[in-house]
Amino acid sequence: MSATTVYLETFGCQMNELDSELVRGQLSTLGYTFSDNPDAAQIVLFNTCSVREHAESKVYSRIGIVSRRKLAGENILLGVLGCMAERDGLALLQRYPQVDIMCGPGELDKLPALIDAARRSDTATAADRTALAGNRTRRSAALSAVQDDLENLDLSRAFDPVVAGRNSFAAQVRITRGCNKFCTYCVVPNTRGAEVHRPPDHIIDECRKLADAGALEITLLGQTVNHYRYEHGAAVTISGREAPQIGPGLAAFRTGIPVGKRVTTFAQLLRRIHDEVPAIARLRFVTSYPRDFGRDILETMRDCPRICRYLHAPAQSGSDRILKLMNRGYTRGEYEAFAAEALEILPDATIAGDFIVGFPTETDEDFEASCDMVRKLPFKNNFIFKYSPRPGTVAIDRFKDDISNEVKKFRNNVLLNLQTQTSARVHATWIGRTVDVLIEEVCTQRDAQPAIGGVELRWETKAAKMQPAPTTLRGRTGGDLIVSMDTPQGANPSDFVGQIMPVLLQRGSALLLHGAFTTGLVVPQSRSISAAQL
Ligand code: SAH
Ligand code: SF4
Ligand code: F3S
Repeated sequence: MSATTVYLETFGCQMNELDSELVRGQLSTLGYTFSDNPDAAQIVLFNTCSVREHAESKVYSRIGIVSRRKLAGENILLGVLGCMAERDGLALLQRYPQVDIMCGPGELDKLPALIDAARRSDTATAADRTALAGNRTRRSAALSAVQDDLENLDLSRAFDPVVAGRNSFAAQVRITRGCNKFCTYCVVPNTRGAEVHRPPDHIIDECRKLADAGALEITLLGQTVNHYRYEHGAAVTISGREAPQIGPGLAAFRTGIPVGKRVTTFAQLLRRIHDEVPAIARLRFVTSYPRDFGRDILETMRDCPRICRYLHAPAQSGSDRILKLMNRGYTRGEYEAFAAEALEILPDATIAGDFIVGFPTETDEDFEASCDMVRKLPFKNNFIFKYSPRPGTVAIDRFKDDISNEVKKFRNNVLLNLQTQTSARVHATWIGRTVDVLIEEVCTQRDAQPAIGGVELRWETKAAKMQPAPTTLRGRTGGDLIVSMDTPQGANPSDFVGQIMPVLLQRGSALLLHGAFTTGLVVPQSRSISAAQL
């Protein structure tokens, strides 16, 4: 019998990309093969995002396309994984009976069993085909066995980049799951559950194996990644080894390290990975919570040259009144103090973030405060989102969504324009400098978009729409500046992909810097192409 082919499409954040990688590894081990073409697959899986309504509507349209194929008689198994499954729960199954499998992000270790149940029996009940955490993860301070199983998914990950379906040179490692912040607009604490920290030894072991498999760059992931803190000696272990641990309350951070307790802080974790896995040329982390950026983290970044000086720390708003309604726990002044301290300790650092416009009750003055912040702070870039009321959040219950879509759109454009000017200013300060660029792709000038339409029964994948590649290379600096370079004459562009090379930055726009390869500084020697090889 030929192997079953799976099409897996990912929506949402990097955490979801990593989840998809783990799912792919897990199913590959069981003999499933993967295709980029949904038409060639017997199993179609969507790993979904719930953070904004728009993220969900894209998935509904995909579900509609596959549903119609199923109704037309094609034998496809359709699975909805991730945050949307968790948020919508069984209601989604009732609306879309063509969905065979639902699996929340905290239950992905159960996916093979769900697929088995759905494939083997027409009579499998909804319960056999559904794994959702509900609010179970918030009911107790101790970890349930379920979460230990989830840890096994990370522990058994496929390190071979071909099996994992990722670049060989860039990888992601989860250090915390879930979130305890409860920003009033945000669905993530409901979909991902309580904050859980992974043991440092598991994380370092994973980084080492990824480096052995060729990863040059590792990105540590967490919703509030710099909130990481692991208290050793806790009772919960898996076969004598340390186990993931529910995050401590805020008090633990205020009172420091308790007497007699051995603790690994985020700064200590960064230093351990940096020192113990020297083959990693770049260590990055996202997303940071501004209030949790202690001086110890910034000083560790200063002292460890292979930790990227890149701080993605969303401000969300410049208005203290709105920040309070959002439950962000800091004022604009405190954010600015964090940015000033970061730039004092790490003058080369780039700062990026997110803003939400049109949060309930946001006045012109509140919005102007966000604009002022984007004008004054050297943000390399900001992702700007229109407020989207999400079921299950505090904001949807407490505040009326009283800012019209027109006003949200207008504010979004205004802030985007200001950010474009700020990005261009920040980029200009880099011109004339030589930086190390990790070359990621040979690119076409315009990125092809997948053609999705509600009326289509098929869609073209991104890969299929790519044009033949010209000779422009694109990569990123440690500070996440995007740089394009021309391939030197006579050289094969694809030989450069996955290399770290010194580049002299020559000109720039708001989106992109352009540079040329130089014979300058190379980090680290063993993993770069030397000028002589060009
Ligand atoms: N944990 C990260 C980001 C989580 S979601 C953090 O706290 O920074 C990514 C971004 O989506 C958020 O930073 C926020 O700007 C945006 N976002 C989250 N919920 C939203 C909502 N309901 N409407 C609009 N934007 C939202
Ligand atoms: Fe959402 Fe706030 Fe947690 Fe980020 S910190 S995931 S915005 S609740
Ligand atoms: Fe979306 Fe879930 Fe990530 S809601 S942003 S996929 S944590």
